[in-house]
Amino acid sequence: MSWAYEFVELDKAIHDRASFDCGEAEINVFIQTQAAKHMKAGISKTMLLPLSAPLSNDKYPICAFYTIAPSSIIRDTLPEALSKKLPRYPVPVFLLAQIAVHLKYHDQGLGKITLVKALEYLWKINSRMRAFAVIVDCLNKNAEQFYLKYGFKTLCDNNGRTRMFIPMKIVAKLFQ
Ligand SMILES: CC(C)(COP(=O)(O)OP(=O)(O)OC[C@H]1O[C@@H](n2cnc3c(N)ncnc32)[C@H](O)[C@@H]1OP(=O)(O)O)[C@@H](O)C(=O)NCCC(=O)NCCS
Repeated sequence: MSWAYEFVELDKAIHDRASFDCGEAEINVFIQTQAAKHMKAGISKTMLLPLSAPLSNDKYPICAFYTIAPSSIIRDTLPEALSKKLPRYPVPVFLLAQIAVHLKYHDQGLGKITLVKALEYLWKINSRMRAFAVIVDCLNKNAEQFYLKYGFKTLCDNNGRTRMFIPMKIVAKLFQ
């Protein structure tokens, strides 16, 4: 069975959150119990790629998803070459809060597709509301390696997690 053609907004009436398993308990709990609540509260947005066919409960399993939210950073956490032209008040950025692929589909290129789709979505938002960069707070060393592969650089420690970033100007070059 194959995944659908496009990413769509999470809808708990349509998508089967309970069957999602990316191998990381924290992220499974997020999609199963928090993502829809956070969207309703207006603090983040979750986009997902469903399987093309539903389960016996008529809901579509989730193959992969990403969650984004607005955020800000202090300019002094950036390398000097980037920070010197920025103001001293908080700098707006997009937070790529979650990205995950169901275990069944690991190592088939879907993580890369999900990241590219997330960056494309943020690039489109950026044409209307500017942000300086995309940041991620890495769950573990594996996640760091994954983001490093795609040009993210280490920014700072954030509550024990490595925060990485990619400037929006670099993201724009991918899609312009
Ligand atoms: C990280 C994750 C999204 C990658 O998804 P995936 O579909 O397996 O990745 P892909 O098949 O698209 O791989 C893309 C590239 O990243 C590399 N990669 C994938 N997982 C990796 C990992 N854990 N560590 C290092 N590199 C990794 C692959 O080797 C591949 O490189 P290549 O194109 O040179 O072969 C997936 O492992 C996952 O859902 N993990 C659990 C959730 C998680 O930790 N999310 C990050 C939270 S910050």
